[in-house]
Amino acid sequence: MAYLRGFTLTYPLLWLTTSTITRCAADTGNSPGLPMVINTWGGPFTAATDAAYLALLESETSALDAVEIGCSTCEANQCDGSVGYGGSPDENCETTLDAMIMDGTTMKSGAVAALRRIKDAISVARAVLEHTTHTLLAGDFATDFAIANGFVAQNLTTEASAASCAQWKAGGCQPNYRINVTPDPAQSCGPYAPTSLNSSSSSAAAAYQSRGSPEGHDTISMIALHSSGVMAAGTSTNGAGRKVPGRVGDGPITGSGSYVDGDVGGCGATGDGDIMMRFLPCYQAVENLRLGMSPQSAAEDAVRRMLRKYPDVQSGIVVVDNEGAHGGAGSGWTFTYAYRGGGMGETVVVSVPPIAG
Ligand code: GLY
Repeated sequence: MAYLRGFTLTYPLLWLTTSTITRCAADTGNSPGLPMVINTWGGPFTAATDAAYLALLESETSALDAVEIGCSTCEANQCDGSVGYGGSPDENCETTLDAMIMDGTTMKSGAVAALRRIKDAISVARAVLEHTTHTLLAGDFATDFAIANGFVAQNLTTEASAASCAQWKAGGCQPNYRINVTPDPAQSCGPYAPTSLNSSSSSAAAAYQSRGSPEGHDTISMIALHSSGVMAAGTSTNGAGRKVPGRVGDGPITGSGSYVDGDVGGCGATGDGDIMMRFLPCYQAVENLRLGMSPQSAAEDAVRRMLRKYPDVQSGIVVVDNEGAHGGAGSGWTFTYAYRGGGMGETVVVSVPPIAG
Protein backbone atom coordinates (compact mmCIF):
# COMPACT_ATOMS: atom_id res chain seq x y z
CA MET A 1 0.00 0.00 0.00
CA ALA A 2 1.29 3.47 -0.76
CA TYR A 3 1.22 6.23 1.83
CA LEU A 4 -2.07 6.79 3.50
CA ARG A 5 -2.69 10.45 2.75
CA GLY A 6 -6.44 11.02 2.65
CA PHE A 7 -7.46 8.26 5.04
CA THR A 8 -7.72 10.62 8.00
CA LEU A 9 -11.32 11.56 7.31
CA THR A 10 -12.52 8.06 8.07
CA TYR A 11 -10.27 6.34 10.62
CA PRO A 12 -10.58 8.94 13.41
CA LEU A 13 -14.26 8.01 13.68
CA LEU A 14 -13.37 4.50 14.77
CA TRP A 15 -12.67 5.37 18.34
CA LEU A 16 -16.19 6.72 18.65
CA THR A 17 -17.68 3.49 17.39
CA THR A 18 -15.63 0.79 19.10
CA SER A 19 -15.37 -0.05 22.78
CA THR A 20 -12.63 -1.35 25.03
CA ILE A 21 -12.41 -3.42 28.16
CA THR A 22 -9.68 -3.05 30.75
CA ARG A 23 -7.79 -5.83 32.47
CA CYS A 24 -4.91 -5.99 34.89
CA ALA A 25 -1.64 -7.53 33.77
CA ALA A 26 -2.27 -10.82 35.56
CA ASP A 27 -5.23 -11.59 33.27
CA THR A 28 -3.16 -11.44 30.11
CA GLY A 29 -0.25 -12.98 28.31
CA ASN A 30 -1.78 -15.60 26.05
CA SER A 31 -2.02 -14.96 22.35
CA PRO A 32 -5.50 -13.99 21.15
CA GLY A 33 -4.54 -15.43 17.75
CA LEU A 34 -3.52 -13.76 14.51
CA PRO A 35 -3.79 -11.25 13.01
CA MET A 36 -2.95 -9.10 15.99
CA VAL A 37 -2.10 -5.52 16.86
CA ILE A 38 -0.61 -4.37 20.15
CA ASN A 39 0.47 -0.88 21.16
CA THR A 40 1.44 1.40 24.01
CA TRP A 41 -1.42 3.06 25.93
CA GLY A 42 -5.17 2.67 26.12
CA GLY A 43 -7.70 5.54 26.06
CA PRO A 44 -7.50 7.50 22.80
CA PHE A 45 -4.71 5.22 21.58
CA THR A 46 -7.19 2.34 21.17
CA ALA A 47 -8.52 4.05 18.03
CA ALA A 48 -5.14 3.21 16.54
CA THR A 49 -5.37 -0.41 17.71
CA ASP A 50 -8.80 -0.76 16.16
CA ALA A 51 -7.85 0.94 12.90
CA ALA A 52 -4.77 -1.25 12.44
CA TYR A 53 -6.53 -4.47 13.47
CA LEU A 54 -9.56 -3.89 11.23
CA ALA A 55 -7.23 -3.08 8.33
CA LEU A 56 -5.34 -6.34 8.91
CA LEU A 57 -8.59 -8.26 8.39
CA GLU A 58 -8.45 -7.12 4.76
CA SER A 59 -6.33 -9.54 2.74
CA GLU A 60 -4.35 -6.84 0.93
CA THR A 61 -3.15 -5.13 4.13
CA SER A 62 0.42 -5.96 5.15
CA ALA A 63 1.89 -5.75 8.66
CA LEU A 64 3.73 -2.56 7.60
CA ASP A 65 0.47 -1.10 6.29
CA ALA A 66 -1.23 -1.87 9.59
CA VAL A 67 1.47 -0.11 11.62
CA GLU A 68 1.31 2.89 9.29
CA ILE A 69 -2.50 3.00 9.52
CA GLY A 70 -2.47 2.68 13.31
CA CYS A 71 0.18 5.31 13.96
CA SER A 72 -1.35 7.63 11.35
CA THR A 73 -4.65 7.38 13.19
CA CYS A 74 -2.98 8.65 16.35
CA GLU A 75 -1.22 11.42 14.40
CA ALA A 76 -4.52 12.57 12.91
CA ASN A 77 -6.40 12.34 16.23
CA GLN A 78 -3.45 13.86 18.12
CA CYS A 79 -4.20 11.06 20.62
CA ASP A 80 -3.58 12.61 24.04
CA GLY A 81 -1.57 15.50 22.61
CA SER A 82 1.68 13.53 22.59
CA VAL A 83 1.42 12.31 19.00
CA GLY A 84 1.01 14.37 15.85
CA TYR A 85 0.68 18.11 15.22
CA GLY A 86 -0.04 20.71 17.90
CA GLY A 87 1.60 18.91 20.84
CA SER A 88 4.78 19.23 22.89
CA PRO A 89 5.95 22.59 21.52
CA ASP A 90 9.67 23.23 21.89
CA GLU A 91 11.29 26.33 23.45
CA ASN A 92 10.47 28.22 20.22
CA CYS A 93 6.82 27.04 20.40
CA GLU A 94 7.26 24.74 17.39
CA THR A 95 5.97 21.15 17.25
CA THR A 96 8.36 18.70 15.60
CA LEU A 97 7.77 15.00 15.04
CA ASP A 98 9.79 11.80 15.47
CA ALA A 99 8.73 8.48 13.90
CA MET A 100 10.09 5.15 12.73
CA ILE A 101 8.75 2.01 11.10
CA MET A 102 10.45 -1.40 10.88
CA ASP A 103 9.94 -4.53 8.82
CA GLY A 104 10.40 -7.68 10.91
CA THR A 105 11.37 -9.79 7.90
CA THR A 106 14.14 -7.70 6.35
CA MET A 107 15.07 -5.82 9.58
CA LYS A 108 14.97 -2.66 7.46
CA SER A 109 13.75 0.44 9.26
CA GLY A 110 12.99 3.97 8.12
CA ALA A 111 12.75 6.97 10.40
CA VAL A 112 12.45 10.74 10.63
CA ALA A 113 13.68 12.88 13.50
CA ALA A 114 12.76 16.46 14.42
CA LEU A 115 10.57 16.54 11.31
CA ARG A 116 9.26 20.08 10.72
CA ARG A 117 6.01 21.24 9.06
CA ILE A 118 4.81 17.79 7.94
CA LYS A 119 1.95 16.05 9.77
CA ASP A 120 2.39 12.53 8.39
CA ALA A 121 5.53 11.48 10.27
CA ILE A 122 5.02 7.70 10.18
CA SER A 123 4.27 7.80 6.46
CA VAL A 124 7.41 9.82 5.77
CA ALA A 125 9.34 7.26 7.83
CA ARG A 126 7.89 4.58 5.60
CA ALA A 127 9.00 6.52 2.53
CA VAL A 128 12.53 6.57 3.96
CA LEU A 129 12.29 2.79 4.36
CA GLU A 130 10.87 2.16 0.90
CA HIS A 131 12.58 4.81 -1.23
CA THR A 132 16.07 5.10 0.22
CA THR A 133 18.69 2.78 1.58
CA HIS A 134 19.06 5.06 4.62
CA THR A 135 17.54 4.54 8.04
CA LEU A 136 17.07 8.07 9.45
CA LEU A 137 16.54 11.53 7.99
CA ALA A 138 16.41 14.61 10.24
CA GLY A 139 15.12 18.16 10.49
CA ASP A 140 14.66 20.44 7.50
CA PHE A 141 16.24 17.91 5.16
CA ALA A 142 13.65 15.33 6.22
CA THR A 143 11.01 17.94 5.39
CA ASP A 144 12.56 18.50 1.95
CA PHE A 145 12.52 14.74 1.38
CA ALA A 146 8.88 14.54 2.43
CA ILE A 147 7.83 17.35 0.08
CA ALA A 148 9.77 15.74 -2.77
CA ASN A 149 7.81 12.55 -2.06
CA GLY A 150 4.46 14.30 -2.30
CA PHE A 151 3.71 15.21 1.30
CA VAL A 152 2.24 18.62 2.04
CA ALA A 153 4.01 21.15 4.27
CA GLN A 154 1.73 22.66 6.91
CA ASN A 155 2.07 24.64 10.13
CA LEU A 156 2.01 22.14 13.02
CA THR A 157 1.18 24.83 15.60
CA THR A 158 -2.40 25.04 16.88
CA GLU A 159 -4.09 27.74 18.94
CA ALA A 160 -3.80 25.47 21.96
CA SER A 161 -0.08 24.75 21.50
CA ALA A 162 0.67 28.44 20.90
CA ALA A 163 -1.26 29.43 24.03
CA SER A 164 0.43 26.76 26.13
CA CYS A 165 3.87 27.88 24.95
CA ALA A 166 3.06 31.56 25.56
CA GLN A 167 1.96 30.67 29.11
CA TRP A 168 5.23 28.79 29.67
CA LYS A 169 7.26 31.78 28.52
CA ALA A 170 5.18 34.13 30.68
CA GLY A 171 5.99 31.86 33.63
CA GLY A 172 9.73 32.32 33.12
CA CYS A 173 10.17 29.22 30.93
CA GLN A 174 9.75 26.84 33.88
CA PRO A 175 10.42 23.97 33.89
CA ASN A 176 12.98 23.47 31.15
CA TYR A 177 15.73 21.02 30.18
CA ARG A 178 18.80 23.25 30.51
CA ILE A 179 21.58 22.40 32.94
CA ASN A 180 25.06 23.76 33.64
CA VAL A 181 24.38 27.08 31.94
CA THR A 182 24.27 30.69 32.89
CA PRO A 183 22.02 32.52 33.71
CA ASP A 184 20.42 30.00 36.10
CA PRO A 185 17.89 28.07 33.96
CA ALA A 186 15.65 27.60 37.02
CA GLN A 187 15.06 31.36 36.95
CA SER A 188 15.57 32.47 33.40
CA CYS A 189 14.52 32.04 29.78
CA GLY A 190 18.08 32.62 28.59
CA PRO A 191 19.80 33.07 26.22
CA TYR A 192 22.14 30.64 27.93
CA ALA A 193 25.90 30.19 27.85
CA PRO A 194 27.63 27.02 29.07
CA THR A 195 29.32 26.95 32.48
CA SER A 196 32.59 25.09 32.75
CA LEU A 197 32.56 21.49 33.97
CA ASN A 198 35.32 19.23 35.16
CA SER A 199 34.39 15.73 34.01
CA SER A 200 36.98 14.15 36.32
CA SER A 201 35.54 15.72 39.47
CA SER A 202 33.41 13.57 41.80
CA SER A 203 30.44 15.96 41.45
CA ALA A 204 30.37 15.95 37.64
CA ALA A 205 27.96 13.03 37.28
CA ALA A 206 25.43 14.70 39.57
CA ALA A 207 25.68 17.90 37.56
CA TYR A 208 24.73 16.07 34.37
CA GLN A 209 21.39 14.90 35.77
CA SER A 210 20.56 17.33 38.54
CA ARG A 211 17.26 18.76 37.33
CA GLY A 212 15.27 15.71 36.30
CA SER A 213 12.75 15.57 33.50
CA PRO A 214 10.23 18.42 33.50
CA GLU A 215 7.31 16.75 31.74
CA GLY A 216 5.91 13.29 31.08
CA HIS A 217 6.34 11.72 27.67
CA ASP A 218 3.84 9.58 25.83
CA THR A 219 4.17 7.95 22.47
CA ILE A 220 2.41 5.44 20.28
CA SER A 221 4.53 2.39 19.58
CA MET A 222 2.81 -0.46 17.78
CA ILE A 223 3.55 -4.00 16.67
CA ALA A 224 1.43 -5.75 14.02
CA LEU A 225 1.33 -9.49 13.34
CA HIS A 226 -0.16 -10.41 9.98
CA SER A 227 -2.15 -13.65 9.82
CA SER A 228 0.79 -15.07 7.81
CA GLY A 229 3.07 -14.42 10.79
CA VAL A 230 4.88 -11.48 9.17
CA MET A 231 5.59 -8.75 11.72
CA ALA A 232 6.21 -4.99 11.65
CA ALA A 233 6.60 -2.30 14.30
CA GLY A 234 6.59 1.48 14.50
CA THR A 235 6.56 4.56 16.70
CA SER A 236 5.26 8.11 16.38
CA THR A 237 5.56 10.98 18.86
CA ASN A 238 5.92 14.73 19.13
CA GLY A 239 8.51 14.17 21.84
CA ALA A 240 9.02 16.23 24.96
CA GLY A 241 7.25 19.52 25.59
CA ARG A 242 9.56 22.56 26.10
CA LYS A 243 12.46 20.62 24.56
CA VAL A 244 15.57 22.37 23.37
CA PRO A 245 14.99 22.92 19.62
CA GLY A 246 16.58 20.09 17.67
CA ARG A 247 16.07 17.54 20.43
CA VAL A 248 15.42 14.01 19.14
CA GLY A 249 13.96 11.41 21.48
CA ASP A 250 13.85 7.65 21.52
CA GLY A 251 10.97 7.39 19.04
CA PRO A 252 12.95 7.27 15.77
CA ILE A 253 15.81 5.20 17.17
CA THR A 254 15.68 1.59 16.01
CA GLY A 255 15.77 -0.65 19.06
CA SER A 256 14.63 2.14 21.36
CA GLY A 257 11.23 3.44 20.17
CA SER A 258 10.39 0.03 18.80
CA TYR A 259 12.04 -3.08 17.37
CA VAL A 260 10.91 -6.23 15.64
CA ASP A 261 12.46 -9.44 14.40
CA GLY A 262 9.80 -11.73 12.96
CA ASP A 263 11.89 -14.76 13.94
CA VAL A 264 11.34 -13.84 17.58
CA GLY A 265 8.91 -10.98 18.32
CA GLY A 266 8.57 -7.25 18.74
CA CYS A 267 8.56 -4.44 21.26
CA GLY A 268 7.20 -0.88 21.55
CA ALA A 269 8.29 1.75 24.06
CA THR A 270 7.01 4.94 25.65
CA GLY A 271 8.43 7.19 28.34
CA ASP A 272 11.37 9.49 28.96
CA GLY A 273 13.18 9.05 25.70
CA ASP A 274 16.24 11.03 26.74
CA ILE A 275 16.99 8.26 29.22
CA MET A 276 15.45 5.28 27.45
CA MET A 277 17.42 5.73 24.23
CA ARG A 278 20.62 5.17 26.22
CA PHE A 279 19.52 1.58 26.89
CA LEU A 280 17.84 0.47 23.62
CA PRO A 281 15.16 -1.24 25.72
CA CYS A 282 13.24 -2.70 22.79
CA TYR A 283 16.36 -4.25 21.29
CA GLN A 284 17.09 -5.66 24.73
CA ALA A 285 13.58 -7.05 25.15
CA VAL A 286 13.53 -8.77 21.76
CA GLU A 287 16.95 -10.27 22.42
CA ASN A 288 15.60 -11.44 25.78
CA LEU A 289 12.84 -13.28 23.87
CA ARG A 290 15.50 -14.86 21.69
CA LEU A 291 17.20 -16.15 24.84
CA GLY A 292 13.97 -17.86 25.84
CA MET A 293 12.34 -15.38 28.23
CA SER A 294 8.57 -14.93 28.21
CA PRO A 295 7.32 -11.55 26.91
CA GLN A 296 6.55 -10.48 30.47
CA SER A 297 10.02 -11.38 31.78
CA ALA A 298 11.66 -9.85 28.71
CA ALA A 299 9.85 -6.55 29.36
CA GLU A 300 10.62 -6.55 33.08
CA ASP A 301 14.31 -7.22 32.50
CA ALA A 302 14.60 -4.37 30.00
CA VAL A 303 12.92 -1.95 32.43
CA ARG A 304 15.06 -3.10 35.37
CA ARG A 305 18.23 -2.38 33.37
CA MET A 306 17.13 1.27 33.16
CA LEU A 307 16.04 1.40 36.79
CA ARG A 308 19.45 0.25 37.97
CA LYS A 309 20.94 3.53 36.71
CA TYR A 310 17.87 5.80 36.76
CA PRO A 311 15.54 4.78 39.64
CA ASP A 312 13.03 7.54 38.78
CA VAL A 313 12.75 6.95 35.04
CA GLN A 314 9.24 7.00 33.56
CA SER A 315 9.12 4.10 31.13
CA GLY A 316 6.77 1.58 29.58
CA ILE A 317 7.41 -1.21 27.12
CA VAL A 318 5.10 -3.75 25.55
CA VAL A 319 6.53 -7.00 24.20
CA VAL A 320 4.92 -9.61 21.97
CA ASP A 321 6.39 -12.84 20.66
CA ASN A 322 5.92 -13.97 17.08
CA GLU A 323 2.87 -16.03 18.04
CA GLY A 324 1.09 -13.19 19.85
CA ALA A 325 1.87 -13.97 23.51
CA HIS A 326 2.43 -10.60 25.20
CA GLY A 327 3.50 -8.77 28.33
CA GLY A 328 4.42 -5.30 29.52
CA ALA A 329 6.43 -3.52 32.18
CA GLY A 330 6.96 0.06 33.24
CA SER A 331 8.38 2.33 35.89
CA GLY A 332 7.45 5.69 37.38
CA TRP A 333 3.81 5.56 36.32
CA THR A 334 1.02 3.07 35.68
CA PHE A 335 1.58 2.13 32.07
CA THR A 336 -1.16 0.70 29.88
CA TYR A 337 -1.09 -1.17 26.61
CA ALA A 338 -3.83 -2.19 24.19
CA TYR A 339 -4.23 -5.24 21.98
CA ARG A 340 -6.71 -6.86 19.65
CA GLY A 341 -6.23 -10.12 17.79
CA GLY A 342 -7.76 -13.31 16.46
CA GLY A 343 -11.53 -12.97 16.51
CA MET A 344 -11.71 -10.35 19.28
CA GLY A 345 -14.68 -8.03 18.88
CA GLU A 346 -13.06 -5.22 20.84
CA THR A 347 -9.70 -3.97 22.06
CA VAL A 348 -8.46 -4.95 25.51
CA VAL A 349 -6.43 -2.49 27.59
CA VAL A 350 -3.94 -3.93 30.09
CA SER A 351 -2.95 -1.89 33.13
CA VAL A 352 0.68 -2.46 34.21
CA PRO A 353 1.71 -1.30 37.71
CA PRO A 354 5.14 0.30 37.97
CA ILE A 355 8.22 -1.70 38.95
CA ALA A 356 9.85 0.00 41.94
CA GLY A 357 13.21 1.68 41.34
N1 GLY B 1 9.17 8.87 24.30
C1 GLY B 1 9.02 10.10 23.67
C2 GLY B 1 10.17 10.99 23.82
O1 GLY B 1 10.76 11.08 24.88
O2 GLY B 1 10.52 11.63 22.86
